[in-house]
Amino acid sequence: MSDQQFSPPTSEWYHPTEDVINNAHVPDYEEVYNEAANDLEGFWAEQAESLDWYKKWDTVLDDSNAPFYKWFVGGKTNMVLNALDRHVKTWRKNKLAIIWEGEPGDKVTMSYWRLWQEVNKFANVLRSMGVKKGDRVTIYMGRTVEIVVAMLACAKIGAPHSVVYGGFSEQALADRIEDAQSRVLITADGAWLRGNIVELKKVADEAVRRSPVVDTVICVKRTGQDIHMEQGRDYWWHDLMALPIASPICETEVMDAEDPLFILYTSGTTGKPKGVLHTHGGYQLYTSTTLKWAFDIKDDDRWWCAADPGWITGHSYIVYAPLILGATSIIYEGAPTHPYPDRWWRIVEEYGVTILYTAPTAIRGLMRFGDAWPNRRDLSSLRLLGTVGEPINPEAWRWYHRVIGNETCPIIDTWWQTETGGFMITPLPSVSLKPGSATRPFPGIKVDVVRDDGTSCDPNEDGELVIQGPWPSMLRTVWGDDERYLSQYWEKYKKFGWYLAGDAARKDDDGYFWVIGRNDDVIKVSGYRLGTAEVESGLVSHAAVAEAAAIAVPDELRGNVIYAYCILVDGVQGSDDLVEALKDHVGHEVGPIAKPSKIEFVDSLPKTRSGKIMRRILKAQAMGQEVGDTSTLAD
Ligand code: WT7
Repeated sequence: MSDQQFSPPTSEWYHPTEDVINNAHVPDYEEVYNEAANDLEGFWAEQAESLDWYKKWDTVLDDSNAPFYKWFVGGKTNMVLNALDRHVKTWRKNKLAIIWEGEPGDKVTMSYWRLWQEVNKFANVLRSMGVKKGDRVTIYMGRTVEIVVAMLACAKIGAPHSVVYGGFSEQALADRIEDAQSRVLITADGAWLRGNIVELKKVADEAVRRSPVVDTVICVKRTGQDIHMEQGRDYWWHDLMALPIASPICETEVMDAEDPLFILYTSGTTGKPKGVLHTHGGYQLYTSTTLKWAFDIKDDDRWWCAADPGWITGHSYIVYAPLILGATSIIYEGAPTHPYPDRWWRIVEEYGVTILYTAPTAIRGLMRFGDAWPNRRDLSSLRLLGTVGEPINPEAWRWYHRVIGNETCPIIDTWWQTETGGFMITPLPSVSLKPGSATRPFPGIKVDVVRDDGTSCDPNEDGELVIQGPWPSMLRTVWGDDERYLSQYWEKYKKFGWYLAGDAARKDDDGYFWVIGRNDDVIKVSGYRLGTAEVESGLVSHAAVAEAAAIAVPDELRGNVIYAYCILVDGVQGSDDLVEALKDHVGHEVGPIAKPSKIEFVDSLPKTRSGKIMRRILKAQAMGQEVGDTSTLAD
């Protein structure tokens, strides 16, 4: 059932030091958790007071049309009001907002003042191109300062952005452009990765050919190779930013708290990616509160979330929450091991990073190179470490704690999802840790592990992870598909009003949560979420393939790898060459992360009588396990 190798609950405890507890924003988790549980709306209203509002809300939570919850109804705000506008009126205008390093070694630093001006300029450019409040803008870029500027500029003028991760290919990008109906696409000529150029503009051109709704493409010059620029459609970012229209003064659009801030596509059980919708009000509040308390952000911190801005982790915790808190955020463009496996540790040393937040797959990848690389660098500035994306193996946890954290940094293991907007289950620094457990829910959040009938599981019994009530940064719907929002997340436990996370989990005797992995047809590869259907559609789009099934198989380094089973069209012979061609085809169509590591040709696939592929059976076979209950198998 689960995609992960699971280690049973352990009694291995790591207790925070007195120093960590006394200096933390929240020294007593229990106390704040109970306070929030006793008066949820009062609790969130109190936190919301720390933000600026053009107009305060009338109602904290409107649940009259649940599960279409509304937060801070009547409130007027804008993400940028809190992320930038308010800071430039204080001493913070001189503080570094962003420290950026490119893979080849180039560096950019930006104060709040400068970032605010760049955002204003680009917001004026977008407005001059006719982008209005409510229009969707698709962004397809690497990890550059410009992606941050582009996102904030969209937010500023009230145009929801849809960022598509730069590792996705033509069709994935085309589908997302089409679904969001974006007229404007912001991209770059390329991005640096492992010393190579990722040809973003080339992919963007093909995607626009497939989704002609785009009439304007804005292109950042990053890698400098020759690219095609379409007359009348494509513009260079630097040319636009040099025009008189790009004034550094720009009015921020006044938004309702519930107005859309962005759409972010994520994989679900059925083929089509879902556009998860987040809004200006609740999302600001929840992401900034979670970052402040879980990672204990202080004014002198240098925060490094080593994710990509193209995923929710980057949206919430590279771009928005750190800026709301007025923090200094580090962004690194390239690969952790380029040119040597100490690239990250050099960055920690060079910039005096105090908090590092990354994923188990990266930790495992770096651990492979041994202790000598990190040991040669001064990592003593670090005071907290974090992880997200999939369950972390206790082995990797201990290495991270011992070698990177010098046995003194708490490991903040944050469980959450694109849909939740921010951390749901996570330790605060004052909470005692167990390697591999995300510990306890954040204040204001009620979670449980339950059986199909909704009864609570016993300690250490596998069940479904549910969230038992609304929270400010919950997704508001699936873009253009309210039905799917209901059926995917709320249908199963409808009579209780619980949100279905889609993860299998356990709760141990101490009330600590252990997430095991996804329950649905979603594969986590290197921490990225992919639908089996996306890989399968990629395979079937090749002329030789009639039908395909993809499954996840546990892998030491990447969490999971993909195995695929293909039925070939009549008359085509399977061969090693065809296997390679198909792998490349999927890499090209869907993206490199979707490449199957193994492809097998078969004559038939196990299916239910209603025609659903039983991936569970393929998986058991691949792993040499018992196939289990096959009563629903057609043949
Ligand atoms: C799925 C959500 C949220 C940012 C990155 C992923 C898995 C996430 C953990 C964790 C165990 C985790 C779950 C979840 N997951 N964090 N700390 N421990 N599993 O966002 O792509 O929407 O994926 O990632 O399976 O449902 P996402």
